[in-house]
Amino acid sequence: MQKKYHIVTYGCQMNVHESEKIAGILHKMGYEETAEKENADIILFNTCCIRENAENHAFGNIGALKKLKKANPNLLIAVGGCMTQEKGKTDVLKKKFPFIDIMFGALNFEELERLIIKKQAQKKKVIEIREKEGEIVEGLKPFRTSYPNAWVNITYGCNNFCSYCIVPYVRGRERSRKMANIIAEVESLVAEGYKEITLLGQNVNSYGNDLNDGSNFATLLDKVASIEGKFRLRFMTSHPKDFTEEVVSVMKKHDKICKCVHLPVQAGSNRILSLMNRRYTREKYLEEVAFLRKALPQAEITTDIIVGFPTETEEDYLQTEDLVKTVGFASAFTFVYSKRQGTKAAEMEGQIDEATQKDRIMRLVALVNSLTREKSQKYIGKTVEILCEDYDEKKGLYLGRDEFGRMGYFSSKENKIGEFVNLKILSANGISLHGELTD
Ligand code: 5AD
Ligand code: SF4
Repeated sequence: MQKKYHIVTYGCQMNVHESEKIAGILHKMGYEETAEKENADIILFNTCCIRENAENHAFGNIGALKKLKKANPNLLIAVGGCMTQEKGKTDVLKKKFPFIDIMFGALNFEELERLIIKKQAQKKKVIEIREKEGEIVEGLKPFRTSYPNAWVNITYGCNNFCSYCIVPYVRGRERSRKMANIIAEVESLVAEGYKEITLLGQNVNSYGNDLNDGSNFATLLDKVASIEGKFRLRFMTSHPKDFTEEVVSVMKKHDKICKCVHLPVQAGSNRILSLMNRRYTREKYLEEVAFLRKALPQAEITTDIIVGFPTETEEDYLQTEDLVKTVGFASAFTFVYSKRQGTKAAEMEGQIDEATQKDRIMRLVALVNSLTREKSQKYIGKTVEILCEDYDEKKGLYLGRDEFGRMGYFSSKENKIGEFVNLKILSANGISLHGELTD
């Protein structure tokens, strides 16, 4: 019987795509996927450590495997990702969950095949975490699970050291993939029929800084958008300090590039932005937004916001609210500040109490939701192009997104997954739209 794997993924798109690469390694080794943990020969956790609740979540789910491992001692349990990469975390995991067989890190998941073989040959657990980032590994074929969308890494790691963020400590310095490798990957994805390509990096706009061959993000974007075929092109994430006019003009040049930018602002107060080490001001951010909208009037902006950062006063928080209203984001991911060991902000005085953090996040979420609802209402009566990406069994409806990432539902007798369809919007419910096919 074919061996089976089950992967549990936490965190961002970067991790979701990394799990596709891990799945690719397992398929090459002869494993196939199972949705049931109980049927698996190997269960892998691809963890995230960006906020404490992501860690707690993983801890809870790993702990819950104790019984399964006892009932089936041949089951392999592997834990990798950002959390194992944190200083001292493997010791904590070893103590708490002695039944884990393999631990690997975000910086060496490519070695998984060797680690599994090593474990199968010995009784002792295998713990191999790479401390420093190495050369970029090319040639791993991901087992992609999200057709018609495909993610393509362009950079790994981050050089920014925002004071709250653990990413630069666990994912190392920024490394850019060679442009030729990225282009070849996108070309083959388009040839395979993928319809939406998202270029991924912690800070896509600094792509190429480490290559010293003159490549930058604008030239990469231009080249990728010039690949023949009908597909959409997105990119994530843009740091406002590096978002250039050159990138905006490339966006303008190509219809394929979605006129939608994820531009995390994090806070609306200059004092907090400076403590966060974001290296832009509120004014600079608003200037960029104005520039983008002047060049591309239809452009939508999405963002990330943190509330309850150390020393944040009510006045600071209200400046965030004010900025949210001024920009009119299409959507926003909102987070409560989470103290991460080893970061500068963890050492700051003036950590904010939980009740204040809760109060601010609730107010912010209400504001963001009301703005998003308002935007949704404006869609009613319009026809939008949706890339159909899935079928919702419960609702009995197909669903997909428009160029701005807005979700649209519709019914169809034929399978539309992977097709661009025109949808006349009849109603809007919160952030999602409902419509009927016009063709
Ligand atoms: N606490 C809360 N949110 C954080 N983020 C990063 N680090 C933290 C933290 N310590 C958020 C930022 C970032 C997004 C990916 O996660 O908003 O843009
Ligand atoms: Fe973290 Fe800042 Fe790098 Fe984003 S840019 S990964 S928030 S350090």
